[in-house]
Amino acid sequence: MKKAIISMLGFALAFNFSFAERDLLKTAKQYFKPLPKTFPSKKNPLTPEKIKLGKILFYEKRISIDGTTSCAKCHPIGYYGTDKLPKSRGNFSKENPRNAPTVFNAAGQISQHWRGDRKDVEDQAKRALLGKGSFGAPSYQWVEKRLKEIKGYQELFKKTFPNDKDPITVDNYAKAIGAWERTLSTPSRFDEFLKGNENALTKKEKRGLKEFISVGCVACHSGALLGGTMYQKFGIVEPYWKYTKSKKIDEGRYSVTKKEEDRYVFKVPPLRNVEMTDPYFHDGSVKSLKRAIWIMGKVQLGKDLSETQVEDIEAFLKSLTGKLSQDIITLPIMPK
Ligand code: HEC
Ligand code: HEC
Repeated sequence: MKKAIISMLGFALAFNFSFAERDLLKTAKQYFKPLPKTFPSKKNPLTPEKIKLGKILFYEKRISIDGTTSCAKCHPIGYYGTDKLPKSRGNFSKENPRNAPTVFNAAGQISQHWRGDRKDVEDQAKRALLGKGSFGAPSYQWVEKRLKEIKGYQELFKKTFPNDKDPITVDNYAKAIGAWERTLSTPSRFDEFLKGNENALTKKEKRGLKEFISVGCVACHSGALLGGTMYQKFGIVEPYWKYTKSKKIDEGRYSVTKKEEDRYVFKVPPLRNVEMTDPYFHDGSVKSLKRAIWIMGKVQLGKDLSETQVEDIEAFLKSLTGKLSQDIITLPIMPK
């Protein structure tokens, strides 16, 4: 474990991230990729019917134990797919152990949830139904029964899964929601920049991008999502709670794998739309993006970033905010 941390740090600290201003685009292209239009899956091919049904089911609350909980309760689309609470509240206002990440671009990650304990968006959607803090359904059969009682779903599921004898199943529920989530890609000006338009970013944003690369943020936040590609310890140089002031200490992936080296390890979160998805970190302990950036420098890289560095990085991160299309925001008509 110690060895792994030291080599990781060595990488971030010793690696020469410095480069000339005019090479910014070229250098950025080595670490980042433009967002794909969708996040396809071989196991769950996208069809227009599935995507449409998935969007409807995302708002379906009649399958929760209190009748008020849907995915949209904790991932409101107009709020960029997250609820702005430090920790979400599910059925009967039960508090969840962690902060709700956004559903936008989530499908493009190696796994789901802060600890990576959900394989993909389909696995996540299915298991949320039985989550004590989310839907709180007593069993999958109970959910299927409730869905079957809603007449409109008979037709919708039949049309979407024409080869299934009994199409209303929680697996098909998960496939439909997963399919919709796989379309929630939010390209921004940064993608135009990566595709070659050097004027898509302002001078300040470019300075921030340069800092983001040269101070070493890019060692963990890279790829199309600027995250979601690996697990890392939160607090490599110092304990994270020293700065986040977290009251409860979360052991991270250790509580999933029981491996000592996974203590305080979390999935590196994507930074797409991060401007809109406060409060930050797995426990929503930090409200300000500037503060979150400074803490990252401190506990992940052992660097006390200056105010200018933090401001420039913040400006760059804000260029990752995508526009939400009318089609994404429009509420579906719920079946009766
Ligand atoms: C009670 C609030 C609540 C409800 C209801 C809820 N979620 Fe979440 N969601 C959360 C929280 C909290 C997390 C983080 C859980 C963790 O990491 O331990 C999360 C995580 C996720 C993630 C993982 C994102 C990532 O970056 O890892 C996805 C995707 C997601 N939810 C989609 C859904 C879908 C789809 C539904 C409906 C089937 C749903 N959620 C229902 C609160 C909720
Ligand atoms: C060694 C890997 C690593 C490095 C280097 C790193 N991060 Fe992170 N970052 C993480 C992890 C892991 C988390 C999740 C922490 C948690 O559990 O909440 C995170 C979380 C964040 C968040 C909060 C996101 C959210 O949705 O809550 C921001 C913002 C962020 N990082 C920005 C940066 C910036 C800016 C830098 C460079 C100064 C940086 N990171 C360097 C691993 C890293």
